[in-house]
Amino acid sequence: MTSWEQLESDCRSCHKCGLCSGRTNVVFGVGRCNANIMFIGEGPGEQEDLQGEPFVGPAGKLLDDMLSIIDVNRTNCYIANIVKCRPPMNRDPFEEEQVACLPYLQQQIELVKPDIIVCLGRIAAKRLIYPDYHITRDHGTWICRNGTWMTAIYHPSALLRDLNKRPETFRDLLSIRQKLREVHAEL
Ligand code: URA
Repeated sequence: MTSWEQLESDCRSCHKCGLCSGRTNVVFGVGRCNANIMFIGEGPGEQEDLQGEPFVGPAGKLLDDMLSIIDVNRTNCYIANIVKCRPPMNRDPFEEEQVACLPYLQQQIELVKPDIIVCLGRIAAKRLIYPDYHITRDHGTWICRNGTWMTAIYHPSALLRDLNKRPETFRDLLSIRQKLREVHAEL
């Protein structure tokens, strides 16, 4: 298995897809390397690209509030994205960009070995849970794959745009808190 150091250094010098040409920073991931729970977003936005850390822009502020509801913070979970370089104009990452970047995330997941993976939004859910995942239909449901519990919730950016989605997301967060308690007495 690759070490964290090797993985991060490979990732930082990556030229496997076109997104490398527009990046300021590779946004590798942040948090506890043996966390019980991982959150996976879509790809860095402007602030993330500038600061080199996932979810530090407006959606990130909301994510921090969402984490606090389930007694989680940036130091006791692990946060990463499907693609590690910013797609231009915040467009969805293309299929080929996701495919090129995915091995880095898969290795991060192997190293962290989380009990729970929470996909943030449609792109991560389709890529990691199943391809015909419909976030409006399937959010908050659980599947267990190879011993890891997986779910998806609305992306924080969607919750900034549409306040009507927040009550459902609150219920999904409570379900994640419950699952955390089931799999681990404490973080
Ligand atoms: N949106 C994402 O999906 N990831 C980030 O890191 C920031 C915004």
